[in-house]
Amino acid sequence: MAGLFDAFEIKNLQLKNRVMVSPMCQYMAEEDAVANDWHIVHYGSFALGGPALVMTEATAVEARGRISVHDLGIYDDRHMEPLRKLVEFNHRHGSKMGIQMAHAGRKAIVPEPIIAPSAIAFSDKYPEPLEMTKEHMQEVLRAYRQATKRALDVGFDVIEIHAAHGYLLHEFLSPVSNHRSDEYGLTREGRVRFVLEVMEQVIDVVAGKIPVTVRVSASEYDCQGYSLDDVVYYCKRMEEIGIDAIDVSSGGNLPVAPSSYPGYQLPFAEAIKQAVHVPVLAVGMLDDPQLAEHVIQSGKADMIVVGRGFLRDKHWAHTAALALGKQPQVPESYLRAYL
Ligand SMILES: Cc1cc2nc3c(=O)[nH]c(=O)nc-3n(C[C@H](O)[C@H](O)[C@H](O)COP(=O)(O)O)c2cc1C
Repeated sequence: MAGLFDAFEIKNLQLKNRVMVSPMCQYMAEEDAVANDWHIVHYGSFALGGPALVMTEATAVEARGRISVHDLGIYDDRHMEPLRKLVEFNHRHGSKMGIQMAHAGRKAIVPEPIIAPSAIAFSDKYPEPLEMTKEHMQEVLRAYRQATKRALDVGFDVIEIHAAHGYLLHEFLSPVSNHRSDEYGLTREGRVRFVLEVMEQVIDVVAGKIPVTVRVSASEYDCQGYSLDDVVYYCKRMEEIGIDAIDVSSGGNLPVAPSSYPGYQLPFAEAIKQAVHVPVLAVGMLDDPQLAEHVIQSGKADMIVVGRGFLRDKHWAHTAALALGKQPQVPESYLRAYL
């Protein structure tokens, strides 16, 4: 029976344990979307804290796809060197590094005109987006392709495609935000089409070198939204085209917040895990070490993704190892703290 601190593999990527730091926007980049000292210290300190994999915050593939003007980007060659420094630091200190590639769609608050599947604002506090033309779609596909080339060059170990939380790809998947009457809307086959096209671009460039994963929102918490059955269908289609793991989150496409409690998204991960063969990652208040261990041991999910727990305790994985009676794998300079 595998536990939280047993090694794991996603495709060809060896992971020293089953802990991943969740993507978390920092809004700390200057308006050029370039990583700075904040990002080096922030992500680097996670690496010292013991997780197998650290995921960047949502990193925009286009300037108009930033959630805010302070997001990280990977849409220009200038973004590469600081990201490379960050990846190299984390590699030297024992963690793999993933990039969450994102496009904010109608939830972007940026100077550029914003785009979405349909001209429907997220809420009355957000601007109305332009309905995407086929040309816009080609631009976005090219942007994902270019971003993937840069991510590979920088040395990231995983690309996670952000298709959750109400951003562009989620907007395509949902009947709430996708009112298109062409082949990219109308049915769930139509609504998943553009998302699969994006994934095909990324998978094509990656050519098997590193895993390509996806984050989905498994519930929209509204009867107008898609169903869990739709999400399972989407995940199966993604698996068929070569997605290597599924990170299961929820919400974000409607201004409603789920009630959250430990493991609140776990039933979604379990449902998806029963339907696919690729690894499933669970997230959402799983930072109680006993709960995290139980989720892995009971086979409900394959990896535990921790967000706020790592913000509170950058060494969460070491803390969890101690709580579970394991020897934490700390950097040598820290050993005296653990004798
Ligand atoms: C400060 C903050 C920023 C976040 N930014 C992102 C993000 O960039 N991409 C994403 O997929 N989720 C983002 N999330 C959601 C987290 O990745 C995670 O799914 C959520 O916090 C639930 O996990 P937790 O209970 O372990 O924090 C963010 C959450 C927080 C607290």
